[in-house]
Amino acid sequence: HCAATQAVPGEGPEAARVLIVGEQPGDQEDLAGRPFVGPAGQLFDQALGAAGVERSTLYITNAVKHFKFRAQGRRRLHQSPTAGEIDHCRWWLDAERALVRPRLIVTLGRSALRGVTGRSDPLGAQRGRLTELADGTRLLPTVHPSWLLRLRDGAERQAEIQRFVDDLAQIPTWA
Ligand code: URA
Repeated sequence: HCAATQAVPGEGPEAARVLIVGEQPGDQEDLAGRPFVGPAGQLFDQALGAAGVERSTLYITNAVKHFKFRAQGRRRLHQSPTAGEIDHCRWWLDAERALVRPRLIVTLGRSALRGVTGRSDPLGAQRGRLTELADGTRLLPTVHPSWLLRLRDGAERQAEIQRFVDDLAQIPTWA
């Protein structure tokens, strides 16, 4: 994705015990060169706070490192990465995993889950449930904060945000 401003690598302590994986940088992340600093990042920060998790203790990255978008006038509209693009970027995520060696990986949304497992599984049954990866690392799949931002119904959105907070509240056990 040559139209992106820059690659956005992960950030956080190399000794972090928990690694968070998102989908790909958005418009603001592309400009800032840092993950989760735009609207989804702000909701993520609020949910972390409500779950009693300190963001600075986490290593935060994305399955894909470049912003993919469609230009509409002056706006840059997010486009989801394909499975092939996620797979193409896996060497980079694997390198981050090898460096950090987390106890727990939390995936936000289906693209992140594919980035880690290599499979396009539906999130439904796995959401909020801890499993163990082949190398012994724990995996906790949950939803992506951008999905929460897209929910139109206020009551549904609040309920889903609370479920998201409940999922993230499992992090301190592994941190
Ligand atoms: N969405 C993501 O998946 N990652 C970011 O860094 C920002 C928004």
